[in-house]
Amino acid sequence: MDAKMILRMNAADHEISYANNSSFQKQVILKIRPIIEESITDAFKKIAPVCMKVADLGCSSGPNVFLAIWHILDTVHGICQQEQLKLPEFEVLLNDLPENDFNFVFKSIPGFYERLKKERGDMLQERCFIGGVAGSFYHRLFPTKSLHFVHSSYGIHWLSKVPVGLEDNKGNVYMARSSPPSVFKAYADQFQKDFTNFLSLRSEEIMPQGCMVLTCVGRKNPNPSKEIMVGICYPNPFLTWLWRLYIYLFISLYFLTTLSIIEAIKTMKTCFLWTIYMG
Ligand SMILES: C[S@@+](CC[C@H](N)C(=O)[O-])C[C@H]1O[C@@H](n2cnc3c(N)ncnc32)[C@H](O)[C@@H]1O
Repeated sequence: MDAKMILRMNAADHEISYANNSSFQKQVILKIRPIIEESITDAFKKIAPVCMKVADLGCSSGPNVFLAIWHILDTVHGICQQEQLKLPEFEVLLNDLPENDFNFVFKSIPGFYERLKKERGDMLQERCFIGGVAGSFYHRLFPTKSLHFVHSSYGIHWLSKVPVGLEDNKGNVYMARSSPPSVFKAYADQFQKDFTNFLSLRSEEIMPQGCMVLTCVGRKNPNPSKEIMVGICYPNPFLTWLWRLYIYLFISLYFLTTLSIIEAIKTMKTCFLWTIYMG
């Protein structure tokens, strides 16, 4: 069966739910808040839309869903107050795979509106419209040139399928010390294909001057078997010391509209090297 029809995080009412086990991912979103603010400020000032269209890809089901969205709304709200500009309306589209616990997401929306109203006032709350989009971000999800801002945290390292060529990965379910080089290459090749596809699709959907902030797991060491990967599937606050997190991807580029995909990939390689260097 197609992976996108099976994959999902445990639902919010599951004994071991993503909602109760995503504090590490929360820290990631908090850490990149300044990057989100900088990008959204830049995009908002350049485009000044009447309705700002924002998408969160791989939103999952849990408290993190609304964290980045809050940062985005709050930033634009702050700019408008400071510079006495008219507050735009916001269309916020939350995406995940079809099996995601969207019931939890939708049931949480009234609470989010309530908090917006209480902490930022009626004006912002009344201008915010949240909806869900079920589907894989490895396919088209939104109409052509319809989005101003795309955010995705901790999702794009999920591949679209099991890489081809893992037959020699005996006794392992992922890259391990004993995995032969062909296995590392198979994962890298699949990531390259998927990510190129992802960028190409988003380049259709994001409007000129729009931007995108992506965060995902990276590694400092070029040899994946030397790094501990335990936390990636089962994040646990007590294991965070094992983690080597590198927010290695920050894109607030206009490449989607102004550069070719090849140039974009070159730019990202530079970002990767920069964060590895900084790491
Ligand atoms: C680790 S969770 C991150 C959730 C949330 N963004 C956060 O930071 O807490 C990764 C999410 O990406 C979703 N995902 C994985 N592959 C996807 C795809 N191809 N299209 C859409 N969502 C996907 C998973 O279902 C999962 O909910």
